[in-house]
Amino acid sequence: MPMKRSPSRSSCGCGSIISLCLAIFFLYGNIHTSNPKCSIQDFYLPALNNSLNSTDNATLYFQLKLRNPNILKGIYYDPVNVTVFNKFNTTTHIRNYVVPDFYQGFRKTAEKDGSVNFNEGAVSRAAFDNRTAVFRVDLVTAVRFKSFVWKTKSKRHQIMVGADVEVNDQGTKVNQKNVKLSQAPLSLRFCCVVAVLFNFLVFILLNF
Ligand SMILES: *[C@@H]1O[C@H](CO)[C@@H](O)[C@H](O)[C@H]1NC(C)=O
Ligand SMILES: *[C@@H]1O[C@H](CO)[C@@H](O)[C@H](O)[C@H]1NC(C)=O
Ligand SMILES: *[C@@H]1O[C@H](CO)[C@@H](O)[C@H](O)[C@H]1NC(C)=O
Ligand SMILES: *[C@@H]1O[C@H](CO)[C@@H](O)[C@H](O)[C@H]1NC(C)=O
Ligand SMILES: *[C@@H]1O[C@H](CO)[C@@H](O)[C@H](O)[C@H]1NC(C)=O
Ligand SMILES: *[C@@H]1O[C@H](CO)[C@@H](O)[C@H](O)[C@H]1NC(C)=O
Repeated sequence: MPMKRSPSRSSCGCGSIISLCLAIFFLYGNIHTSNPKCSIQDFYLPALNNSLNSTDNATLYFQLKLRNPNILKGIYYDPVNVTVFNKFNTTTHIRNYVVPDFYQGFRKTAEKDGSVNFNEGAVSRAAFDNRTAVFRVDLVTAVRFKSFVWKTKSKRHQIMVGADVEVNDQGTKVNQKNVKLSQAPLSLRFCCVVAVLFNFLVFILLNF
């Protein structure tokens, strides 16, 4: 939708208040940039499901959730590289799955299914005596933000997040809630806050 024309100045004070609010909204939406929020919704290893009485199926199935929290910015994702390995043996049996590049509109959420094939031995070794295990999931990609107002693309921002996923003796993640992949670059966030404050100040000075 195109930017709305603000009502004519003469009508009343409301007009200028509304246009001020709109200006703040667009300014904020344009300047403030948040990285996508990444989490793991589903995580299932049939080989670790005790009820199956079989460890033959050494595939790991997972579902990623990628959310664009920005109010006025779309996100172009480069291919998303998801790496999974045994948390306690980080040198061998590293598997990865690549989600093809895609575009995500603002405030949209994408759910991406993925799977990796371990071998039976690797899964068995990853499990403790009580048949639980801990896997490490790392996600690496780069994103470009598309400004809704100016139709421009930002330069690439590197995203590197990860989490430990505990798996129970039914082969699914222990945590019922989504497992958040984190390691947000603090410096970027800090810069954004400073930029927003600075621009807001300039805006105020120019208008009054
Ligand atoms: C584990 O296997 C049992 C038996 O086939 C099945 O009923 C159950 O749904 C499986 N658990 C999960 C989490 O899929
Ligand atoms: C697994 O083994 C138990 C005990 O031997 C049995 O009761 C159960 O039905 C088996 N489950 C499957 C899916 O074969
Ligand atoms: C492994 O388990 C998944 C999920 O239960 C199932 O969809 C898939 O067909 C199984 N693969 C094999 C080779 O048994
Ligand atoms: C994904 O990450 C793995 C492990 O770091 C690496 O070996 C692989 O080359 C990467 N793949 C892509 C397409 O970047
Ligand atoms: C990791 O796994 C490999 C292959 O199974 C094994 O040789 C190695 O000793 C393991 N390392 C650790 C720290 O358990
Ligand atoms: C299973 O064993 C591991 C390692 O000994 C332990 O950290 C974990 O808490 C145990 N899990 C359960 C559910 O008993």
